Amino acid sequence: MATLAALSSLIFLCLSQLPYYSSAVNRTLGSSLSSATDNNSSWLSPSGEFAFGFRQLNNSDLFLLAIWFNKIPERTIVWFANGDSPAPRGSTLELTTKGLVLNNPGGQMLWNASASPASATVTEAAMLDTGNFVLTGSGSDFVWESFRNPTDTILPTQTLDLGSMLFSKLTATNFSKGRFELHFDNGNVQLNPVAWPSRSIYNSYYSSGTSSIISSESGNKLVFNATGNIYIVKTNGEIAQLSPWVTITPRVDRYYRATLDSDGVFTQYAYQNNSPTNQSWWALRILPENMCTAIFNEIGSGACGFNSYCSIQNGRPSCNCPPGYVFVDPSNRLMGCRPNFRQGCGGDDGSRDPRELYEIREFNNVNWPLGDYERLEPYSQKDCEQSCIYDCSCAVAIYDGSTRCWKKKLPLSNGRYGETEGYSRVLFKVRKGDSSSGFEDNSGSRRREPILLGALLLGGSVFFNAILLVAISLVVFMWHKREAGNNAQDSSVSDTNMPCFTYKELEEATDGFKEELGRGSFGIVYKGDLRSGSRNAIAVKKLDKLVQEREREFKTELSAIGRTHHKNLVQLLGFCDEGVHRLLVYEFMSNGTLANFLFAIPKPDWYLRVRIALEIAKGLVYLHEECNIPIIHCDIKPQNILLDQHFIAKISDFGLSKLLISNQSRTFTMARGTRGYVAPEWFKNVPVTAKVDVYSFGVLLLEIICCRRSVEMECEEENRAILTDWACECYVERRLDVLVDGDETSMADKARLHKWLMIAIWCIQEDPSKRPTMKMVMQMLEGLLEVPQPPSFPSSSFSVSVEY
Ligand SMILES: *[C@@H]1O[C@H](CO)[C@@H](O)[C@H](O)[C@H]1NC(C)=O
Ligand SMILES: *[C@@H]1O[C@H](CO)[C@@H](O)[C@H](O)[C@H]1NC(C)=O
Ligand SMILES: *[C@@H]1O[C@H](CO)[C@@H](O)[C@H](O)[C@H]1NC(C)=O
Ligand SMILES: *[C@@H]1O[C@H](CO)[C@@H](O)[C@H](O)[C@H]1NC(C)=O
Ligand SMILES: *[C@@H]1O[C@H](CO)[C@@H](O)[C@H](O)[C@H]1NC(C)=O
Ligand SMILES: *[C@@H]1O[C@H](CO)[C@@H](O)[C@H](O)[C@H]1NC(C)=O
Ligand SMILES: *[C@@H]1O[C@H](CO)[C@@H](O)[C@H](O)[C@H]1NC(C)=O
Ligand SMILES: *[C@@H]1O[C@H](CO)[C@@H](O)[C@H](O)[C@H]1NC(C)=O
Repeated sequence: MATLAALSSLIFLCLSQLPYYSSAVNRTLGSSLSSATDNNSSWLSPSGEFAFGFRQLNNSDLFLLAIWFNKIPERTIVWFANGDSPAPRGSTLELTTKGLVLNNPGGQMLWNASASPASATVTEAAMLDTGNFVLTGSGSDFVWESFRNPTDTILPTQTLDLGSMLFSKLTATNFSKGRFELHFDNGNVQLNPVAWPSRSIYNSYYSSGTSSIISSESGNKLVFNATGNIYIVKTNGEIAQLSPWVTITPRVDRYYRATLDSDGVFTQYAYQNNSPTNQSWWALRILPENMCTAIFNEIGSGACGFNSYCSIQNGRPSCNCPPGYVFVDPSNRLMGCRPNFRQGCGGDDGSRDPRELYEIREFNNVNWPLGDYERLEPYSQKDCEQSCIYDCSCAVAIYDGSTRCWKKKLPLSNGRYGETEGYSRVLFKVRKGDSSSGFEDNSGSRRREPILLGALLLGGSVFFNAILLVAISLVVFMWHKREAGNNAQDSSVSDTNMPCFTYKELEEATDGFKEELGRGSFGIVYKGDLRSGSRNAIAVKKLDKLVQEREREFKTELSAIGRTHHKNLVQLLGFCDEGVHRLLVYEFMSNGTLANFLFAIPKPDWYLRVRIALEIAKGLVYLHEECNIPIIHCDIKPQNILLDQHFIAKISDFGLSKLLISNQSRTFTMARGTRGYVAPEWFKNVPVTAKVDVYSFGVLLLEIICCRRSVEMECEEENRAILTDWACECYVERRLDVLVDGDETSMADKARLHKWLMIAIWCIQEDPSKRPTMKMVMQMLEGLLEVPQPPSFPSSSFSVSVEY
């Protein structure tokens, strides 16, 4: 009993002491704060939970008058006064009978807070433990409250009356008014984009739908209650949720705040109180759920700025530029993109053909729903591209994959990623050779006129060039010799202008087909020497004797590779087509196949592997997009990548490849390729596209990263047998070290390793339309295009269930 009495007297003592402590916190008239000496002079709330005062902006000599959570390391700002006019060092805040006045050192007013009603006299100011900073009048009522003058954030116990608004900051670090506002008007909570830098607003991208013509059923207050729920209270007292939000379990062990973020997403954040491990805010819930698609206005730029596109990454909108475009303001991606070249058509004086100046870049999976100004039909893709290139107004053409061509002009608005219909292709007109545009272009569509010789010579080292020169002159010589009196030749073959050898010549060159180099699709490859000169090594592929069935492969390979000229493709030097003998003659690659190189012990150097991966990608970009007739290789695997004496990678073996004649973008064909590398759609009776090579490249990239085969049946751990599955698993579990098996050089290059793994996972997406094009892959590998988070696991263990 005695103890109880003692305890209650202690409590009484504490309570009676409270006013004393509080008065130490409350500020009387004439109190002031200065940003002159201290970098963050502030007034604290009684428990020290919140602080009101100056905050230094980004280590500059500028200050923000703000309220912040003072007990968490981040000191998160929840209210601020002078975002548009930061206060220089030496500015002062003074409490007067009329309110608060913030003056710069010269005595000019930067900001003020006036008591309301205007007749009221201020006696005190207090920072309360709720986060509300208040001015009290003589009747101890509040004549000004930060809760009634919110900026971008609301806190538990705060309510918003009709007519209230929040505005987003411009960026995370710039407190100027940004591009989005929340309005509580007419009973409705709505989010609006702003016509920045003016404050006029566009149609909302979110609405709570709580407005009603029956006034008692209309929203009256927006409440953020003490235990974390946010809801609307109607005039009749009923509660309505901010749909699709629902009531959450009340919690007192968390800090909460709800902020209209600078990206326009209204987010309720939570922070675990007194948790030593989890010291950060996390987003509990957001409005709207998908910012990228929520905004759709005829005018204004949409969720991101003009000419950019929005994609959701980790639940948040992220803005990016299409190829050939750069951010207007790299420190604020919401400001949109601009072309990194002069938009137009002909040359400055109209004297040059637009085709010399502009080219088309395909950039799929992105949609700008507005801005069409013409629809042409029926048009082929080629016509569509031409039409855009010749049209000064055209910035982008959309081709629907069969007959329709839409042209769009700048600026592009409401761009969003991944919302595309069917097979439509987005064709960007960009200026040739602009620096931002991406990969270095070795040859191809740009200009075929410069002679092959020149192009090839530029592409290699002196030594390599010397060999090539000899080889080519020899071939040309022989070709001319042969042309004089040649025998019957297949017409389809002859139109490739390929030198033709006699069987006897090749038999001699290979010393009777003695030294076997390897086995390709449908044939054995032998080493040989042209004219006994040891420097003129060649590789001769002798196709199997099943002539009838192999006829087509022979022609395919000949016509496919015969048309190509690229540093990263094996060069075909000639052929032989004599009765049953069908042979193909290539340049000799002294360092064998990538398979031999890659799966050796110790692992080959990481940076050499990196270069080789880039070279293979370049070769594929050329095949898909830059040669006259696009070619799908259909059998990309390490056995079909050869390395020359400088370890330059070259794609070989075109026996299975498909020519996409007359602007096809896809083709029906029988299943082909090699198990472990073939894309799932081969087995689905759907048309295949160049994306099958992207898939195989993804597998190959994983092999290059890990230095192991795509399928390893003798694996000790079963989950590692299929490389694609295992790599995804490692990625999700963030175990890159396990994936590269302790390869130190690649671990030291972790950023690239991580990015390339993401690229590989993009490439092996089961849905071909989700895979990037080789051009995008190339740009991502080179760091010119950002790599978004891969969407999900590609279908797991597809490769084991299929027997091919
Ligand atoms: C300090 O100000 C707050 C808010 O006006 C008030 O509740 C409290 O009683 C004040 N304390 C004193 C000692 O005046
Ligand atoms: C200002 O606040 C920061 C934390 O935001 C703190 O680290 C620093 O010591 C403070 N400076 C002064 C002079 O109080
Ligand atoms: C305040 O910040 C400035 C610049 O960031 C620094 O030079 C100065 O030492 C700081 N003053 C105090 C009291 O921390
Ligand atoms: C704040 O500024 C307005 C106009 O700029 C002025 O009318 C008002 O009196 C000022 N209030 C205080 C407390 O100085
Ligand atoms: C903050 O400072 C950093 C470097 O000091 C600078 O790069 C950045 O642009 C600054 N941010 C703002 C908003 O001024
Ligand atoms: C914030 O952005 C605005 C508009 O771009 C700019 O005028 C202002 O200087 C920026 N403020 C700071 C502190 O960087
Ligand atoms: C906050 O709202 C929720 C749901 O309406 C309710 O369960 C809870 O009791 C409220 N908390 C307070 C402190 O009013
Ligand atoms: C902190 O905890 C919450 C819930 O307990 C969780 O959702 C959040 O992801 C955690 N954050 C971190 C960084 O662990």
